[in-house]
Amino acid sequence: MGERVNCGTVFESILQKAETGGTLARDDIVRLLGAASPEQRGALHAAAYRVKEHHVGRRVRLRGLVEISNACRKNCLYCGIRRDNGNVARYRLAQEEILGLADAARRFRYGSIALQAGERQDAEWTGFIEDTVRRIKAQPGAGLGITLSLGEQTRETYRRWFEAGAHRYLLRIEMTQPEIYARFHPADHSWQGRVACLGELRAAGYQVGTGVMCGLPGQSLENLAGDLLFFKERDIDMVGMGPWLRHAGTPLGRAHPQPQDAEGVLGLALNMIAVARLLLRDVNIVASTALQTLAPDGRERGLLAGANVIMPNLTPAAYRAGYTLYDGKPACDEQAGGARRRLEAAIRAAGETPAHDEWGDAPHFANRQPIFLTNPKGNTP
Ligand code: 5AD
Ligand code: SF4
Repeated sequence: MGERVNCGTVFESILQKAETGGTLARDDIVRLLGAASPEQRGALHAAAYRVKEHHVGRRVRLRGLVEISNACRKNCLYCGIRRDNGNVARYRLAQEEILGLADAARRFRYGSIALQAGERQDAEWTGFIEDTVRRIKAQPGAGLGITLSLGEQTRETYRRWFEAGAHRYLLRIEMTQPEIYARFHPADHSWQGRVACLGELRAAGYQVGTGVMCGLPGQSLENLAGDLLFFKERDIDMVGMGPWLRHAGTPLGRAHPQPQDAEGVLGLALNMIAVARLLLRDVNIVASTALQTLAPDGRERGLLAGANVIMPNLTPAAYRAGYTLYDGKPACDEQAGGARRRLEAAIRAAGETPAHDEWGDAPHFANRQPIFLTNPKGNTP
């Protein structure tokens, strides 16, 4: 009993330090991530929410997500669209379709679009993306913000896409310890190469987002604390994290056939969001689709734990099944009016407002390098 009271006191004092912006040691972060009782979780998420309110407000930034192709040259052991999964019908949206979806995003007043795909580096693909970005920027109406999430590329490619008008880039590092990375990726995938890409993206002028998966087999809270400290050290602008979800057709899914404990995994993912908010303050944090897979209101719970970005999925229904990174990925079409209204109503019911017609950049970017506010390329508002 006494010990329990004592534990609570230690937890509370770490939480207070976190909320007031004190320096958190790795052990402190582990303690916060380990919050498991409803009381501790409630206190953690409420503190993160207050920090979010102070730094980024209660307006949810929206990015219309378009999964433009599921072709991928990589073979990550956990991912449903890995190269060696022969059961996937590979697709690629035509440029006209992408332009139509960008137009829809503008009509829906999302202000920003995110183009995501598996990784390809050949000239035909990189040229296609460059041209598509240029055309989206040239469409009539207010200029959409463009986020890319297209994997590892050369410095040259990142620069060309930035010149074309993209201004944010998401490249999840997936896990920040090289030896753990090696457990979940084939030997020809390089953690160091991926880290170097984050540096190139920043040098090219992008607002840079990264993130990890949590709940992987064998992953510890210490590992996850290391991940969060990595984001802090690299001064990143945006975070996109989510739980690992089993895909039965992947090597990792086959090695771990047992069903996952959805509430446990969701709880960990929400704690990761909350501690990321406490540590990183003024960054953008995504409430990911993977949260919604674990619970229908998973994304709203993400908002209440400190996230401030939602990416409504605009990928046409015909291609949805092709982008199955993990089993149970929700297939609802958020282009449809009903789903859109439901999402906006759910955001409001959570006490938040959808931010319309704006890029919704993270204040962190402007705060870290005011020089970019006068970027002559016009990739900032
Ligand atoms: N479970 C959860 N997230 C996954 N991703 C890939 N496979 C899975 C999975 N099985 C995530 C990776 C990648 C992003 C596009 O999707 O983090 O960066
Ligand atoms: Fe390709 Fe990304 Fe899946 Fe890895 S996680 S196989 S890079 S789509």
